[in-house]
Formats: sequence, structure tokens, C-alpha cells
Amino acid sequence: MPIKETAKIWHNGKLINWSDATLHVMSHVVNYGSCVFEGIRAYQLPSGPAIFRAQEHMQRLIDSAHVYRMELPYTRQELVDAMLDLVAVNETSPCYIRPLVLRGYGDLGVNPMNSPIEIYMANYEWGNFLASGAQEGPVGIDACVSTWTRIAPNTLPAMAKAGANYMNSQLIKMEATVNGFAEGIALDKNGYVSEGPGANLFLVRKGKLITAPIGNSVLPGITRDSVITMAQDLGVEVIEQVIPREMLYIAEELFFCGTGAEITPVKSVDRISVGGGNVGPVTRTIYDEYFGIVKGTKADRFNWLTPVPVAEVVGA
Ligand SMILES: Cc1ncc(COP(=O)(O)O)c(C=O)c1O
Repeated sequence: MPIKETAKIWHNGKLINWSDATLHVMSHVVNYGSCVFEGIRAYQLPSGPAIFRAQEHMQRLIDSAHVYRMELPYTRQELVDAMLDLVAVNETSPCYIRPLVLRGYGDLGVNPMNSPIEIYMANYEWGNFLASGAQEGPVGIDACVSTWTRIAPNTLPAMAKAGANYMNSQLIKMEATVNGFAEGIALDKNGYVSEGPGANLFLVRKGKLITAPIGNSVLPGITRDSVITMAQDLGVEVIEQVIPREMLYIAEELFFCGTGAEITPVKSVDRISVGGGNVGPVTRTIYDEYFGIVKGTKADRFNWLTPVPVAEVVGA
């Protein structure tokens, strides 16, 4: 899906024109992938646009940067405020928001610390990347177990959302795509279920919701956390446990979750049908709860939505 341009991009505290947000080819990030980023959604509610879990996403950006010794000259609240301004100024809602912290143009040595840190934030219209047809209700996708192993502990840190991690994700995604699957599932270095290339994974077994713990090379997904919170609130038992591969095939239900994937059921793994190929009751309940909250048809009872002050900025 090609990017739909908006008017402005936030750069180091200022709004600049979309077309001016350019980088030199010899920037550190272009050569070595030295960046961390976030992916965030703003939803359109009857009350106006609102950002889903703004503080948690910006905290993860700060954490990712910290792992890579990139100290940001902005507080979490300042970054959230910048994001709210950007979404308001671009008048694009619903949208996807991409904050990006990178090592820019300076020195090209492997030591990144002599290259300047640049912070950008862009937003644009975007749908569901696993094409579950979120508007019409949940539709399952076909997935496969990847031959590529997820990034191993103490190699690239999985808790940091770094651009370089997505080279591994790209291998998983490309392999799945060329083999006719909508998505791949990566195992960790010990052969246990980890996650998708851009989403966390949950399964239902004996009515309980199970997901891999953070130690199995998964990104600590904000949607993952939201699913756990919603499930517990609805009385569904949630277990974070090491998942053997075969549990994928005998699961009653399986779904991906993430900012991009939202809640996307999986109807088969390696052409073995999961749960008879149907969307099961737990997935359906979580799906309805998630979309109810982000579309404003259910109360925002966990305080996950930050309204975008559109009127103030547009009228300014
Ligand atoms: C590798 C990976 N895992 C999990 C997720 C889900 O995280 P979140 O729910 O915070 O978007 C993402 C998406 O950003 C991802 O790229």
C-alpha cells in the first residue's frame, strides 16, 4: 500500500513540509540500520480523533532509544504533545503515526556515537496490514511457521523496536508471501513459538488464552498488553508460557495482534486448519471489545484513548 502523503512531518521540535523530510544517503542509519521507531494508531471516534495508548508507545520509544544509548532531549509528554499536534495539523484521521529516532549524517564508523540523533514523526492514512477486513468483522488468514528463526537473545534486543530487527522480520514475511501465506510465525532460537514479523500471537487452548513470554524474543506489544487486560477483565484466564510449535496446530483458536494487525484471526498454520477454520468465541470477544473501544461504541474503561485537540489547532 503506497504511503499517502500528508502536509507536515515533525522534525526535532518543528513541523516541516513532507517533501523536506529528507536524509543524506551517507547517514549512519542508511548504512547500518541505526534507528528505533514506533507504530501508533489514531482512531476516529464519534467524539473526534483519538490516539490509542499514546503514553505507552512513547515510553517504548524512549526505552528502545535508551537500549541503544540514544538519549532523547524530549520528555514522554512532550513527544505525546508533538504527536497530537501533528495529527491535528495534518487533519488525517484515522491514521497511522510513525515516530522515528535515527543516527543521522556525521561519521560513518560502526561506532554510532559521533552521528547526530534526529527525531522525526510522520502520520498518514493506513488500513489493516494483514487484511483481516476489520470493518466487516474478523476473517481468518493462513499462516506458516517460518524457516527463519527470530532474533536470538543477546544478539539484537527484541524488547527494543529497532529498525534492524525488521531485517529478520522481512525474511519471515517474504518467505511466507512467496509461498502463498498471509503471514509467517517465527520460532525462537530454542524452537519455541515467538511471534509474527510485525505482530504478537495468542492461542486459545482449553478455553485459556496463551501467549509467549517476553523472554521468547517477542516485542512487548502494546496491543498484546491490551489483549491481556481486556481478557482478564472479561474473566478469561491468560497464561504467558513457553509454547511448543505443535500447540499452534491443536489450538482451538489463534490470532495475531498489533498496531498494524489489530486483532487478526488465523485459520490455518502450515495448511493445517486451526479451530475448524472458524473464528472462535474468545477471538471474537476480544475483537469486538478492541474495536468497540477504539471506535467509541464501548466505553474507554481503561483510559487508552487520548483525544486529538483538532478544533484548537485547526482554528489557530
Ligand atoms: C515484531 C513485532 N511484534 C509485535 C508487534 C505488536 O506491537 P504493538 O501491539 O505495540 O504494535 C509489532 C508491531 O509493532 C512488531 O513489529
